[in-house]
Amino acid sequence: MQINNDIYQTYGHDWWAEDAVFDICSLRYCMNPVRYGYFKRRLQEQHLPGQSVLDVGCGGGFLAEEFARGGFDVTGIDPADRSLEAARKHASDNNLEIDYRAGKGEALPFSDGSFDIVACCDVLEHVDDLSLVISEVARTLKAGGVFCYDTVNRTWLSKVALIKISQDWGFTSWSQPNVHVWEKFIKPAELIAVMSRYGLVNQELRGISSRKNPLALLASLRALKKGRLSNQEIAAAFAVCESKDLKISYMGYAIRSSSV
Ligand SMILES: C[S@@+](CC[C@H](N)C(=O)[O-])C[C@H]1O[C@@H](n2cnc3c(N)ncnc32)[C@H](O)[C@@H]1O
Repeated sequence: MQINNDIYQTYGHDWWAEDAVFDICSLRYCMNPVRYGYFKRRLQEQHLPGQSVLDVGCGGGFLAEEFARGGFDVTGIDPADRSLEAARKHASDNNLEIDYRAGKGEALPFSDGSFDIVACCDVLEHVDDLSLVISEVARTLKAGGVFCYDTVNRTWLSKVALIKISQDWGFTSWSQPNVHVWEKFIKPAELIAVMSRYGLVNQELRGISSRKNPLALLASLRALKKGRLSNQEIAAAFAVCESKDLKISYMGYAIRSSSV
């Protein structure tokens, strides 16, 4: 099954539109507050170094903007030119200085040890070569630098939730076909193994999940499909939060060891 990454070449300014497709709004309203809140807390608590941030697969800039508002010097990179245009315009409209570049995670156009922090969120399950992307993340991080990530676990539950309910079943589907391909989802142990091969030592894993029961979630998705709930309302109804449950989405951070 071929993943449909071309869809990100079609998104332009709709990244920031209130009525954007839920594929995008779910990132903005469900995922981004949870993951940025987690990264910020960990970076502060652990006194981890950091001023320069690279956001790999930055899309329209949801995460890049949070880091920029948090006072970091941010660079974002993505292969989708239209997404980058939207990201640049939104940053400039909001007086945020973010250096957006075109490129892929497999070949980052930065010299070794350029960044204190590299973030890569909701991207690893989309890339052509996971191992190459992780090796590039490790190469561009300074020793002691932090890799912040989130991605999707490859479990029967992620197949039901993100492939069947979200993409395949017309009664509830909200995502375009093949935006996610189950075989590309990554088990935490696999990610940890690839990271450790390149000197990225994982520190923690946390789940990203909903507080609602599955029937309530299905009812909300049906209401979205019928146009009875706005994107913001459905994001609120999903009540996505940080948790111990790694069965669908998970996040974490790793530190680049100095002995690579
Ligand atoms: C689900 S979106 C996530 C966007 C952003 N990180 C966020 O969470 O708001 C996936 C992004 O990954 C980008 N992408 C796909 N393949 C990539 C690759 N090989 N390297 C870097 N980015 C890639 C897409 O263009 C798209 O912007």
